[in-house]
Amino acid sequence: MKKINIAIDGPASSGKSTVAKILANDYGFIYTDTGAMYRSVTLMAICSDVAFDDEQGLVSLINNHKISFRQTNQGQLVYIDHVNVTEKIRQPEVTNNVSEVAAHEQVRRKLVEKQQEIASNSGVVMDGRDIGTAVLPNAEVKIFLVASVEERAERRFKENQSKGIPTDFQTLKKEIEHRDQLDSTRKISPLKQANDAIRLDTTGMSIQQVVMNIKKIVDEKVAKSIN
Ligand code: DC
Repeated sequence: MKKINIAIDGPASSGKSTVAKILANDYGFIYTDTGAMYRSVTLMAICSDVAFDDEQGLVSLINNHKISFRQTNQGQLVYIDHVNVTEKIRQPEVTNNVSEVAAHEQVRRKLVEKQQEIASNSGVVMDGRDIGTAVLPNAEVKIFLVASVEERAERRFKENQSKGIPTDFQTLKKEIEHRDQLDSTRKISPLKQANDAIRLDTTGMSIQQVVMNIKKIVDEKVAKSIN
């Protein structure tokens, strides 16, 4: 498989990371979960008592700590320095505050630099909100994944149930809607479909169907670039 960059953007719980991981695994590409990077900064702020509106304080945390990904046979793990934070960055306190942290221009500038460095040798599947518009504007394939809020809440609800996390469906749905609203109305690089991205509505589709659809798009792109 020719090395290309694949950008997958979309609202919260639209299945981006599930699909991106499968694609990266099948193509032998590197999977990069940019949301995990914003979540890590939010977790550091909580642990260090840095306010979510203290932009300089947040930038200092990024400058003084290393956020990294490690591929293991348990999947991809997220580290801050030498601490495995894979589970911690999914806790509600992080999820409910990450949009505020991600809205700061300087925070985005720092993390986007890191994301561009990861993708500089190509062969990356990167998911987030601004990958096609700001991080990798030249990505060979850009996908914008959407699904109804009902279905996204339903997927997340089932996932939480399977992990034994008690969840109220209506609260979950409201939180997803609120996060989408914050992410799509912020000034800097809001959640938005890139002009050259392909929009895929996954409502009612299985993971495998979504993967197949994207692979068809990737194959067509690669074939075109060779011919
Ligand atoms: O994909 P996720 O739900 O883990 O992302 C967490 C938050 O991080 C999301 O609500 C907005 C922010 N984010 C962002 O602003 N830009 C990205 N490229 C990825 C995530």
